[in-house]
Amino acid sequence: MQAKGAYPSFTSRLAFIIAAAGSAVGLGNVWGFTYVAGQNGGGGFVLIYLLALAFVAGPAFMAEMLIGRMGKASPPTALAKLQASTGSRLRWPSVGWIGLIGTLMVLSFYAVIAGQAMYYGLIALEGGFGGWSESAVTKLDADFKANPWAMALWSAAFMAFTAAIVSFDIRTGIERAGKVMMPLLFIMLIGLVAYSGHTGDMGAAVNFLFGFHEINFSSRLFLEAVGQAFFTLGVGVGGLMTYGSYMGDDVRLPRATFWIVAMDLFVALAAGLAIFPLVFASGVEPTAGPGLVFLTLPIIFAEVPGGAFVAFIFFLLLTFAAVTSSISLLSPTVQRLAEARVSRPVAACLMAGAAVMLSLLTVYSFAGGRGVYPLAAFGLNGMTAFDLIREGVSNFILPLSGLAYCLIIGWALKREVVRAALPMAEGRLFTLWYGVVRFIAPLAITALFIGAVVG
Ligand code: TRP
Repeated sequence: MQAKGAYPSFTSRLAFIIAAAGSAVGLGNVWGFTYVAGQNGGGGFVLIYLLALAFVAGPAFMAEMLIGRMGKASPPTALAKLQASTGSRLRWPSVGWIGLIGTLMVLSFYAVIAGQAMYYGLIALEGGFGGWSESAVTKLDADFKANPWAMALWSAAFMAFTAAIVSFDIRTGIERAGKVMMPLLFIMLIGLVAYSGHTGDMGAAVNFLFGFHEINFSSRLFLEAVGQAFFTLGVGVGGLMTYGSYMGDDVRLPRATFWIVAMDLFVALAAGLAIFPLVFASGVEPTAGPGLVFLTLPIIFAEVPGGAFVAFIFFLLLTFAAVTSSISLLSPTVQRLAEARVSRPVAACLMAGAAVMLSLLTVYSFAGGRGVYPLAAFGLNGMTAFDLIREGVSNFILPLSGLAYCLIIGWALKREVVRAALPMAEGRLFTLWYGVVRFIAPLAITALFIGAVVG
């Protein structure tokens, strides 16, 4: 426990790194990365994704955490403080407010997918999947999606779990959840990779993920790769800004950034190496899309030895990964409400409730509204409410907020001020990062949007 009334903080450097890694490692690494890589042809996509991590999303990730540490408040308030220190007349807090809206948008579909993972975990625990026929698995997914109430209830259960953790103070809730779940997640993941290597076709998986196949370079591919890089690091909605505000000045940010990005990448690749060997060994297509994890994999779990147990471990892993991310998504709004003297439990319940209400849009998109395209009249035909929310947040809000963070750190604040906020960073490393944040990342994001509009 911390002294009452003090601004919250993590107990140690490691606690911060675990929390931030927990935020980064999530459904995006397992569910998102494997299906986006699968749909975009593997190797070539992975390469662009790596470049996007190193030169765009990674540097912006560090910028966001730094803004939080400098501002020591919720995102809108932290940005207002920094703005006041410069005398700029632009409205910096609006970037923070858009981020708060973004957290709810991400949570709205995150909760539905995490809810399905919890449901599948329960089925596996009851011995399900073992020996099931393909049609039984397909029916399970179809029945779940045909039942909006079940989807909404599981989403609500997941958000209740999230809210319960966030209700506690930082050290007892968020910090402890990461310290318990993250090591377990790593152990389960390594176990799954070993199992897949033993049972599946590891060679085909490695070739698929790292080999070069035909790459179809298009502005769309770049946008997806950059969007995925931002999403997987969780940059752009203020979650990291909020965690950054809880970190001590002794955290060496460049080093912490390196380790968190490395862990995140490791989990994405390991998830690929856990999933694709089974996919290839069973001869199903790797391009199944969002259904890969809930449709393709369970069919495989039904066939492999010990499938029900493996399935349980897999869905438990997915749930843990999702929870340590969703607590970071609930934190910014809860911190903002705390500034308005709303207690953490009340704030957490309110915002989790809001996320559940919004999640009904995704539930509807998966259930009755599969062919309903709300913005078809605006040229966005073929996109359900879920598609619009997911792509709107990953491909627009995240990169644009990331751009704003880079411009704030790289241009709006004075170089000496930024340098002084990173006293322990080695000179050359600082210069490199600063140059990327000033020039490379903003130019890359701008080029991306021009490309998306023109191409
Ligand atoms: N990074 C998480 C994942 O890969 C999701 C996540 C956490 C996120 N915080 C975020 C996504 C902020 C966007 C913005 O699953």
